Amino acid sequence: MKVAITGATGFVGRRLVERLQADGHTVIALTRNPERALQLFPAAAFPNVEPVGYAPMESGDWQQVFSGCDGVVNLAGEPIAENRWTAERKQMILDSRKLGTQKVVEAIAQATPKPTVLVNASAIGYYGTSETATFDETSPAGDDFLAEICQTWETEAQKVKQAGLRLVIVRLGIVLGDGGALAKMIPPFKLFAGGPIGTGKQWFSWIHREDLVSLILQALTNSAFEGVYNATAPNPVRMTDLAHALGERLKRPSWLPVPGFALEALLGDGAKVVLEGQQVLPKRTQASGFQYHYPTIAQALAEILK
Ligand SMILES: NC(=O)c1ccc[n+]([C@@H]2O[C@H](COP(=O)([O-])OP(=O)(O)OC[C@H]3O[C@@H](n4cnc5c(N)ncnc54)[C@H](OP(=O)(O)O)[C@@H]3O)[C@@H](O)[C@H]2O)c1
Repeated sequence: MKVAITGATGFVGRRLVERLQADGHTVIALTRNPERALQLFPAAAFPNVEPVGYAPMESGDWQQVFSGCDGVVNLAGEPIAENRWTAERKQMILDSRKLGTQKVVEAIAQATPKPTVLVNASAIGYYGTSETATFDETSPAGDDFLAEICQTWETEAQKVKQAGLRLVIVRLGIVLGDGGALAKMIPPFKLFAGGPIGTGKQWFSWIHREDLVSLILQALTNSAFEGVYNATAPNPVRMTDLAHALGERLKRPSWLPVPGFALEALLGDGAKVVLEGQQVLPKRTQASGFQYHYPTIAQALAEILK
């Protein structure tokens, strides 16, 4: 296959590119910074990977790369949980996904020959937050900022169907792997100061990065995949259980709670992502026959923290 990927340099994209390269596929890595992409994917180790520079929210020559591709994976977007949510940042979180997806879909519509499938990221933030409800792919959208972002992102992606493509939307849970969210959670544990963040009762719906990449690869190659799939493991945990599992694995105490206000001071409204959660079940993903390598948090942490 020849696959074009936006967000190829990110935490998820990097691993997806590695797996596609290992399987002998060709990758067009769309990036705002081709030099950095070349450092991540040096030609000697990644002969099938071609970084292409682009301005994600503007039309341009880069849009021609989709002609002759078999599939497109759209992962790009301004990071959500890294900085304080100022009005400007919130606008960037929205625009990078809304306009970014619009431009990808516009380009696909013009491509000849056209790719046959678009795999578009979304997030479990789609459902809003709850300590008691469970959500699957048929649940309605929530009504907070992240739910609005995800709906807008998905609405733009849906338009690719007018160009005749198969569309797969993967609603990502918190992705666990070497780096990402775990990299931020582990240091306090190593200093014997680890514990649940906030009340600890909030749900943490996660997925191992390898399982997520396998799901994206299946979505690309298996034409039976169509529509929305929750990219979460079948066993979400509460934050206290995650802290406990991390403590066990790192052989460190896990009882020292990190107060919610400390995180709010750092992230403002963005702290919501960690302080309020949602219990998301991958009903359609499991019904598709997808096999998880890491269905439980203990199995995932055992692999990541080996
Ligand atoms: N990781 C998670 O736990 C998680 C959970 C739910 C949803 N998601 C979503 O899934 C997608 C992939 O996740 P990830 O963890 O791989 O994300 P990531 O590490 O933050 O990488 C996303 C990529 O998007 C590009 N990007 C960043 N800011 C951008 C902007 N303002 N405009 C356009 N492109 C921008 C960057 O590529 P270049 O710099 O090369 O252009 C970056 O490599 C993201 O959209 C993320 O929000 C992730």
